[in-house]
Amino acid sequence: MSGEDAALAAERRWAIVVAAIIVAIVATMVVTGVHYAAMPPSRVETIDPRTLHLTGEFVESNLGTGVAADGKVTVRLVAQQYSFQPACVVVPAEVPVTFRATSSDVIHGFVVTGTNANVMVIPGFVATFTTTFRQPGDHAMPCHEYCGTGHEGMWARVQVIPANDFRARAGRGRRLDCVRR
Ligand code: CUA
Repeated sequence: MSGEDAALAAERRWAIVVAAIIVAIVATMVVTGVHYAAMPPSRVETIDPRTLHLTGEFVESNLGTGVAADGKVTVRLVAQQYSFQPACVVVPAEVPVTFRATSSDVIHGFVVTGTNANVMVIPGFVATFTTTFRQPGDHAMPCHEYCGTGHEGMWARVQVIPANDFRARAGRGRRLDCVRR
């Protein structure tokens, strides 16, 4: 083998090594990208969207804001084309509040204006986050994922009230909302 042939063979070997590294990097990017794109945000908790209204945590009588025996405040919401249930959420100020939301049809989402509360609501999954509203006041809560022709009309309200007023209204096991009936 001439010196030139040896050099060519060495160059080819290195080209193969470099190509293999590039293929490995691209494959890693594609696999992780597709994997995370197919996952809902934050953590994964699944639920059957077909039976939401029949059984379990998201039946109508359990929607709204509840206070557990240990004092923890939880808001349960269902998003559907084109409303949130309940359409007006009442929460105490200066107390951590956990939202739990799911969808009965397509992908929705919501943001509580003036706060950093912002989540996607995906059918088949329970979206949760915990936040504390600093002061009493009203916030709009629009759907922020395009969900069909009625998307822009899909919104709810969040009413933050003083913690004492909230405690006075929240009887044991009751679910609160601020929907006018
Ligand atoms: Cu629901 Cu947009």
